[in-house]
Amino acid sequence: MKSLEKIFINGGTPLRGQVEIAGAKNAVLALLAGTILTRDCCRIDNIPFISDVTVMLNILRELGADVRRINKHCVEINTRHFNSGEVPYELTKHCRASYYLLGALFGRFGHARVAMPGGCDFGVRPIDQHIRGFEALGAAVSFEQNAIISMQSNQPQGTSIYLDIVSVGATINIMLAAVRARGVTVLENAAKEPHVVDLANFLNSCGADIRGAGTDVIKIHGVKELHGCEYATIPDQIEAGTYMAAIAASGGQALVTQVIPKHMECISAKLIECGVQVKEFDDSILVAANEPLRRCNIKTMPHPGFPTDMQPQFGALLTRAEGTSVLNEGIFDNRFRYMDQLVRMGAKVTVDGKIAVVEGVQELHGAQVKAYDLRAGAAMIIAGLSAHGETEVENIEFIDRGYEDIVGKLAAMGADIRRKIVKTDAEMRNVA
Ligand code: UD1
Repeated sequence: MKSLEKIFINGGTPLRGQVEIAGAKNAVLALLAGTILTRDCCRIDNIPFISDVTVMLNILRELGADVRRINKHCVEINTRHFNSGEVPYELTKHCRASYYLLGALFGRFGHARVAMPGGCDFGVRPIDQHIRGFEALGAAVSFEQNAIISMQSNQPQGTSIYLDIVSVGATINIMLAAVRARGVTVLENAAKEPHVVDLANFLNSCGADIRGAGTDVIKIHGVKELHGCEYATIPDQIEAGTYMAAIAASGGQALVTQVIPKHMECISAKLIECGVQVKEFDDSILVAANEPLRRCNIKTMPHPGFPTDMQPQFGALLTRAEGTSVLNEGIFDNRFRYMDQLVRMGAKVTVDGKIAVVEGVQELHGAQVKAYDLRAGAAMIIAGLSAHGETEVENIEFIDRGYEDIVGKLAAMGADIRRKIVKTDAEMRNVA
């Protein structure tokens, strides 16, 4: 059992200086699964040091991969000795992206048997589009007890697939499954997120032939074998956006470095609408909040629309913006749960299904709040940075899933924030 830790924030200090952004969580999780498709060694750099990556690397190790950490952000992986396409729930339960093992194992072995994953809970998260894609490629898919999916094909065969819903996960999973299939796969209504493009670039560096990633039609010419490669993960759009929102919420001015400004445009545009100055450089963005924040409306959409993974951070930011903002969650059914925690801090919010109306207040006050999931946790920190008094954030293991050293990075920008063990390992065992 692990010790119980919380994050404590004394709000009110404007963030200054600079913050360096790590590699993209959602890209690297797909790349790690992608290493299964080759029997050679892949060296992946710019890997974020976060718990979701640790979980995924452990899964690969358990399945027989040779995983060598070259340094904190660089890993070499060789899956030559994988001998099974089976992954039990014990391994998948902590990481939603473990469903990429389905596509990757199927792509390598022509069969896979994987327990359905855990991950952030923001409503029903079906995977019917993934399954439809696998079936179109020739997989016979069956569902077993305890949510285990089993699929088998003598020879996956390229085909045309039209996604009914723009799904990041289905796009990535189908790419993984189709890359070594016979013939050509045309995937229409594909997701265009930066991490979809990153996976295609990684697989192409391994000898795949994938064209059109980043548009809504992706063409995959199946190849017989993939080889190893050296690859660096793209910067994390959502981590960068989170710090941009944090700087704005604190009334600060700071440089966000190691980013691709093009990926940030949907987020920068909303900050500018809120009266924040945003200046782009080649690989960094300066954010300056010199005036009171103004209201704005947000509707989350697939890329290049405003990302659902930035909705909670903006929810927190807008609690103190002048006027009334409307947030419309266009992707998930139940992603406003965190609002009740902001209300504990003095926010004025009403939620009706997929719409939240936020009436800006003069100030928030510190409170004990919970991180319901990864991005909701980031929202609590942002609210805490701009609140008066002390905020105590619980359930921070969610935050560790996707933010590398968020406390250290914010403290280096002047925030009064710390992480504290509130119950030791031994005390936790006594409670249990
Ligand atoms: C990925 C991201 C997550 C992000 C989300 C949307 C990873 C590991 N996770 O999640 O951080 O919030 O994209 O940008 O990269 N849907 C179906 N059937 C399917 C698949 C999806 O109905 O087979 C629906 C979902 O319920 C949701 C929408 O499609 O309403 C989009 O989901 P999707 O893009 O697949 O999200 P994830 O891949 O789960």
